[in-house]
Amino acid sequence: MPKALAPYGSMMKPILISRIADLRAALSAPRREGQSIGLVPTMGYLHRGHMALVDQARGENGLVVVSIFVNPTQFGPNEDLDTYPRDLEGDLKLCAEHGVDIVFAPDVADMYPESMATTIDVAPLSTILIGAQRPGHFQGVATVVAKLFNIVQPSRAYFGEKDFQQLTVVRRMVRDLSFDIAIVGVPTVREADGLAASSRNVRLSPEDRSAAAVVSRALDLAEAMVAGGERDPAAVAQAVRQTIAGESRAGTPAVDVRLAATLGELDVIGAAPVVVLVTVPFGSVLLLDQREMAGAAGANQKRKTA
Ligand code: PAF
Repeated sequence: MPKALAPYGSMMKPILISRIADLRAALSAPRREGQSIGLVPTMGYLHRGHMALVDQARGENGLVVVSIFVNPTQFGPNEDLDTYPRDLEGDLKLCAEHGVDIVFAPDVADMYPESMATTIDVAPLSTILIGAQRPGHFQGVATVVAKLFNIVQPSRAYFGEKDFQQLTVVRRMVRDLSFDIAIVGVPTVREADGLAASSRNVRLSPEDRSAAAVVSRALDLAEAMVAGGERDPAAVAQAVRQTIAGESRAGTPAVDVRLAATLGELDVIGAAPVVVLVTVPFGSVLLLDQREMAGAAGANQKRKTA
C-alpha cells in the first residue's frame, strides 16, 4: 500500500506515492466509485502559481493528484537540470494546506527504466519559438505529460497559461492522440509588481528581481497598443523590445506576436485573439511571460501559417 505521510498539523493528506504501480492501486477504488481525478503536473518547488492550478483542480474534482518530477528529458545538455530548485518537504506542506489528496513523486528510474524508444513530437509547434531556442524541450515535455496522463488517467489536467507554448503543445497532443482528458489553462499568477510567479524567480539576484518587473510593464504596453487600435504585430513586438531594452539588467529578449489558438504567424492583428510571447534573460535566468489579448472585432485576419 502507498506510504501515508506523517500528518501536517491536523491534516492527514496528502499521501506521498513514488511508484507508478502504487499510484495506480491508490486510484483504482476512487475511479471505480466514479470520482473525477484532477492532475496538476509540476516539477516541484511549488509556488503561488502552482497553487492556483491546485485550487482550481480542488474545486472541480473529487480527487486531486499533484505530480512532482523534474523531467530530465526536457532539459538540454547545457541547461539547469542539476541546479533546478527542489524542496519536497516544502511542497508537501503546501499541498497539505491546499487539500491535495496525492502527491506523486516518482524517481527517474521508475519513469524511465530504460532509454525511451518512443518520443512524442507535436510538430511544428514543438520546434518554433522556445522550441527553436531549446531543441528537444517540447518533445521531452509532451512525452512525459503523455506518460503522466497514462499513469494517472485524470478527468482534467491543469497547466499555467504562463507557459503558453507548452499549454498549446499539450492541447494539440490531446486532440491528436484522442486523450479523454480536459485540459484546463489557468491564468498567470503575478507578484505585486507584475512579475509572473515562477520557480526560477528565486535564482534572480535582488537587483535582477526588481528589474524583471519590466517584462510585465512591456506586456501592459502591448495590450494597450492593441486595445488602442494598433494592427501591426511588428510594431507591437518592437515596442515590447524597446521597453525591455530600457532596463539595463535585461538581456536581449525574444518577442513574438502570434495567433493565440495556433501560435501561427500573422501580418495584421485581426479578429482572432493574439498572444504576445516574451523570453528574456536576467543573468543566467531565462524568464518567460505572455499576454493573450482580444484581436480587433470584425477586422480581416491575414494568416501566414497555421
Ligand atoms: O511545466 C512544468 O512544470 C513541466 O514542463 C511539466 C508540464 C510538469 C512537464 O515536466
